[in-house]
Amino acid sequence: MVISAFELVLLTSALLALCSIVYYTLKTGISPMPSSAKARAEVWQFLAQVSPRPKQTIVDLGSGWGGLVIPLALRFPECQIVGYELSWLPWFTSKVIQRVLRLHNLKLYRQNFLQQPLPSADIVVCYLYPEGMTKLADQGRVQHWRPSYLISICFALPNHNALEKVKVSDFYQTPVYLYRL
Ligand SMILES: C[S@@+](CC[C@H](N)C(=O)[O-])C[C@H]1O[C@@H](n2cnc3c(N)ncnc32)[C@H](O)[C@@H]1O
Repeated sequence: MVISAFELVLLTSALLALCSIVYYTLKTGISPMPSSAKARAEVWQFLAQVSPRPKQTIVDLGSGWGGLVIPLALRFPECQIVGYELSWLPWFTSKVIQRVLRLHNLKLYRQNFLQQPLPSADIVVCYLYPEGMTKLADQGRVQHWRPSYLISICFALPNHNALEKVKVSDFYQTPVYLYRL
């Protein structure tokens, strides 16, 4: 079987993309798996309670492929939406979607939010992992980081009492937490 140059380029690109995702999954501690539709529906419920006002900033820490941050920018056009994502391919994909949809209220940074001053925000959403939540709580304490609300999919913020915790009716009964900070 002879592989054409085109097939070779495709194959190499797919392999590089896969390596990049595996590399950043190992580096950050979590894959860019998007949050489930049911978990996102719960995030919308909490956001309805919190009711973001125009000009407020909503930050997604670990915005992945844009599964949450893009709908946020569409749903709250008068708010400033910010996403931080370290993994190159998911970040690039969300950038392309942002351009196509002309989302001017959305900023997407390819940065490690744990290696710099935490972004100022009114509302923070995240879907991280236990160690990431511990690091976030520690760094937040040192930097006196105080967004008004934090909504976390799946994992609790250590040493904080959630205002509300809802279990989503999915296979894993994924919890979604709302914190008033
Ligand atoms: C499970 S995904 C969540 C994606 C998206 N927020 C959603 O709900 O669909 C978590 C993402 O966080 C990113 N991430 C984890 N730690 C990070 C860090 N310190 N800085 C930037 N991105 C990080 C990972 O690369 C991954 O893409």
